[in-house]
Amino acid sequence: MPKIKIAPSILSADISRINREIKEVEKYADLIHIDIMDGIFVSPTTVDADFVKAIKTHVPLDVHLMVHEPSEAYLKGFFDAGAHSITIHEEACRDPLRQIDLIKKSNVKACISIKPKTPLGRIKKYLDLVDMVLIMTVEPGYAGQKFIASAMPKIEELRKLKPKLDIEVDGGINPYTAPLAYAAGANVFVAGTSIFGKKDRTAAIQEMLQSLK
Ligand code: DX5
Ligand code: ZN
Repeated sequence: MPKIKIAPSILSADISRINREIKEVEKYADLIHIDIMDGIFVSPTTVDADFVKAIKTHVPLDVHLMVHEPSEAYLKGFFDAGAHSITIHEEACRDPLRQIDLIKKSNVKACISIKPKTPLGRIKKYLDLVDMVLIMTVEPGYAGQKFIASAMPKIEELRKLKPKLDIEVDGGINPYTAPLAYAAGANVFVAGTSIFGKKDRTAAIQEMLQSLK
């Protein structure tokens, strides 16, 4: 099983003081998870590439694009903004291979995601090409939703197929649900509400790590 990584999601942070918010998690975060929503693939809209560019941290930026058909120029904005990894949604792209190729060509880590009801079979053909798979544990769009445990069998199946792959989970992850996803085979844990929603972010991350022991 690959190394456990914690990825606080800034969707639950105060973005008017984002660099100070990130400072509070920098010491224990392995990735900073940034949710980009376009108002099309999901109803809300969030921040853009310029916002990402203004983030100052040594922690790798994990950009989650909940975006319909991201174009080459659109992706380039995130390459230039310093993204470490970019996740696209299988459901949002006509031919995800196109985006995966563009991302990899720019030396950014490519990741593909599926929503809770999308079967694993839809992404099997990309598994040898991507650096990480994100299995959503809520319907994308909002922080603070309830963890969908019915996504666990997909993680189990994926872990059997890919013992060394980074498998990320996102949505409703907290010290009670993270161990369920970990037992299924996930190793990268995105958390908004249960980290940035708490006053003491360091304690929140420690509690999450403790739950995985
Ligand atoms: C939801 C986003 C998540 C969100 C998770 O669509 O992809 O990253 O921030 O928030 P919590 O941890 O509160 O479920
Ligand atoms: Zn996300």
